[in-house]
Amino acid sequence: MINVAVTGASGQMGALIIQNIVRTDGVDLSAAFDLANIGSDAGEIAQAGTLGVPISDVKEMEQVLTETDTDVIIDFTIANATTTNAPVVAGCGVNLVIGTTGFTPEQRTTIDDAIRKNDISAIIAPNYSVGVNVFFKIIEEAAKYLSDTDIEIIEAHHNRKQDAPSGTAIRAAEIMSLVLGGKDYVFGRHGMVPREKEIGIHAVRGGDIAGDHTVLFAGDGERIEIKHQAHSRQAFAAGAVKAAQWIHNAEPGTYTMDDILGI
Ligand SMILES: NC(=O)c1ccc[n+]([C@@H]2O[C@H](COP(=O)([O-])OP(=O)(O)OC[C@H]3O[C@@H](n4cnc5c(N)ncnc54)[C@H](O)[C@@H]3O)[C@@H](O)[C@H]2O)c1
Repeated sequence: MINVAVTGASGQMGALIIQNIVRTDGVDLSAAFDLANIGSDAGEIAQAGTLGVPISDVKEMEQVLTETDTDVIIDFTIANATTTNAPVVAGCGVNLVIGTTGFTPEQRTTIDDAIRKNDISAIIAPNYSVGVNVFFKIIEEAAKYLSDTDIEIIEAHHNRKQDAPSGTAIRAAEIMSLVLGGKDYVFGRHGMVPREKEIGIHAVRGGDIAGDHTVLFAGDGERIEIKHQAHSRQAFAAGAVKAAQWIHNAEPGTYTMDDILGI
């Protein structure tokens, strides 16, 4: 049995992840953390039934992780929170599955350092869905053949998403930039901004959109659009639990979804 804790247990993703843990054989919810609903049953908050696991204050993380013999923690919160909590988790020798997006390069370095110094295993992925990781592979291939086209990334998410553009859009840009020998990024356009050879990145926010990503390759007389649409957040939650199972037996190091999916 793998003991899995969830940080961000009161959030949209946290609730879905707890529901997925409950219906997955071989994993148990060992602990839950959030700023909200401290002391409440994590299963009840997540609408997964009573589990007897209270939501704990992150200030007690070290003690709770040790007492509950937690193997892996899944963190879907906000960048500041993950940057503060990841070194505590790593210091306890607990492996990490990070779904939070919107890190600055400095925040990412702090997290990477903590993983390395404490010799733990971690997966950090801007998107845990199988489909998006296949989409990454497809746009990588397409970019090789469409290097002369103008490339734009358009993403759309629900109106409560805090960071923009999405971590998935940024990852898509990085993948294509690597193939194309380095590209500048332009985030949205306003005013007199003639197009150069950049990758344009655009964020749309509205309603309850779970997550759409389109890469547009626009050439003379034709264009190709490659699009992924998430119908719900379920694909991300299932992928995160799968990642927690995979990382449990992995050698120390930082992994991506490519490693898990064998892409
Ligand atoms: N990687 C992926 O596949 C994927 C998919 C969906 C969302 N996300 C990312 O996951 C994150 C969470 O998304 P969400 O829609 O669940 O957001 P949400 O706002 O519904 O939930 C975030 C939760 O984190 C909690 N939180 C904030 N600060 C905290 C702290 N210091 N300690 C503990 N808990 C804290 C909040 O109280 C809240 O309950 C975002 O960064 C989002 O971009 C990633």
